[in-house]
Amino acid sequence: MSEKTQTGLTQDELIALAGRHMIQNYRQQPVVMARGAGMELFDVSGRRYLDMTAGIAVCCLGHSHPALAESIAEQARTLQHVSNLYYIEQQILAARDIAERCFADRVFFCNSGAEANEGALKLARRYQHTVAGAPERNLIVSTLGSFHGRSMATVAITGQEKYRADLGPLIEPVTMVPYGDLAAAEKVLEQRTACAFILEPIQAEGGIIVPPAGYLAGLRELCSRTGTLLIFDEVQTGVGRTGKWFGHQHDGVTPDVMTMAKALGGGVPIGAVAATDEAARGLGFREGGAVPHASTFGGNPLACAAARTVIRVIEEDGLLANTREVGAYLGEKLDALAAAHAPLTTGTRGRGFLRGLALSRAAGPVYSACRERGLLVSVAGGTVVRFAPALIAGREHIDEAIEILDAVLGELGQ
Ligand SMILES: Cc1ncc(COP(=O)(O)O)c(C=O)c1O
Repeated sequence: MSEKTQTGLTQDELIALAGRHMIQNYRQQPVVMARGAGMELFDVSGRRYLDMTAGIAVCCLGHSHPALAESIAEQARTLQHVSNLYYIEQQILAARDIAERCFADRVFFCNSGAEANEGALKLARRYQHTVAGAPERNLIVSTLGSFHGRSMATVAITGQEKYRADLGPLIEPVTMVPYGDLAAAEKVLEQRTACAFILEPIQAEGGIIVPPAGYLAGLRELCSRTGTLLIFDEVQTGVGRTGKWFGHQHDGVTPDVMTMAKALGGGVPIGAVAATDEAARGLGFREGGAVPHASTFGGNPLACAAARTVIRVIEEDGLLANTREVGAYLGEKLDALAAAHAPLTTGTRGRGFLRGLALSRAAGPVYSACRERGLLVSVAGGTVVRFAPALIAGREHIDEAIEILDAVLGELGQ
């Protein structure tokens, strides 16, 4: 059965048009998706795919979840955008919904992960200027192997050279320390020149790297002792992906600031900076001054209605527990694959529904071969096959995915 494209154009015609009119920055798979439902996507030729990517950790309720679709439609009929010149009901309630599920007292809304990190960096710099009275504390400390976004500030703090190439001069000063290495962090932070230390609770794009136990707690202690703001980038790990609302909640520590995006809108663009009362002073408005940070679209009614529905459905449908249980099952299945296909496979890592199968060579061919067999996975850190399914994934989906991946690894390992 062939799916209809929305315009009546064929897949080949659309891809040819993309070649003609799109800036050629992406390297896309030769498929146009037509429709999604739950764990499945269908391309315009009617081909079904089992989706273990969820739009790069975004569609946490699965594709076209009826409650999310309904809340977006209802909000679109009621009020779509007014700007932050006015109070916005859905925005205020979304901030409350987030604050009730984490350490944060206050939230600022934007539209993406990079923007959320930009906001957090501005907060940190301005906190040192206006609250701590230490404008000379301007160093941003980040980790090697990290990924924080594609804007000019966030590429500068991203610890992978390939994302920073050809863009200089980059925003300074930034120092990178090895991820998981407390002694290296201490050496830099003890100089008391840093405004903030930013890191992912699990490095996602960098290859699903889980830090050693005690690392986040150690950083918390170091940052508190040295007057450095601790920022957790939960853009990929947040909103349920690891089986708790936020990835750092497995470690029993809290940051001063946290960023999120991706899954927060379940597919509708939204980002957020969440902060303690104290840290939030960094972005506080001062009488007589300019508004210190803002976003035209940030916190618009449509995106915030979606975020509120995402949070409600995750809770009502027990999706955190599902992510822990079925995520553990996925981990076991990947462990078995890793054992069966060594030395092509070198191990597994991750937590909840953010899992990786590490290979001894580039994972690109596995990614393409899986798609050709109807399974969508993605690549992290070049050599890791990444699973980041919707939080609704069941054991039957995992079984189907593992069977396909098993066959692909068998073929490629020969
Ligand atoms: C940890 C992390 N931070 C930031 C970003 C950037 O988010 P966005 O693409 O929404 O700007 C990503 C995207 O993959 C991410 O994984």
